[in-house]
Amino acid sequence: MKVTRVLLINGPNLNLLGTREPEVYGYETLQDIVDELRSYAVAKDVELSDFQTNSEGDLITKIHEARTTVDGIVLNPGAFTHYSIAIRDAITGVGLPVIETHLSNIHAREPFRDTSVLAPVCLGVVAGFGRNSYFVALDALIRHLGV
Ligand code: DQA
Repeated sequence: MKVTRVLLINGPNLNLLGTREPEVYGYETLQDIVDELRSYAVAKDVELSDFQTNSEGDLITKIHEARTTVDGIVLNPGAFTHYSIAIRDAITGVGLPVIETHLSNIHAREPFRDTSVLAPVCLGVVAGFGRNSYFVALDALIRHLGV
């Protein structure tokens, strides 16, 4: 049986989850969420790897490397969502299915968060469900992959 491999990427400031604006992003740490998501993935025969970076370049390099190592990506790009054409080009360049994922509802916040330059090149977007956004995104991706 072919193992399905999914990469979870979290962008800038998401390493501060748990203490960063908890009323917006919740009280769970990123490690808590990753651990729970990995158990959830294992139960579905999916291998989940994860990566967090505050650097745009490292995020782009990780997307490039993923081209030959995983079947799809769950990506919370943080603030890069709203302006990184370089990340958009990386997503287009590798041709992998990517689900843009946000804890908060970016459409119900400051006007500058309402725009995603990445959404048009992603398979879909999940936003506004807190930690559950990651689980919904993973489900959507693995259903898309036919798992
Ligand atoms: C975020 C939303 C972004 O606007 C913000 O810059 C983040 C987190 C979210 O998960 O809700 O860092 O991606």
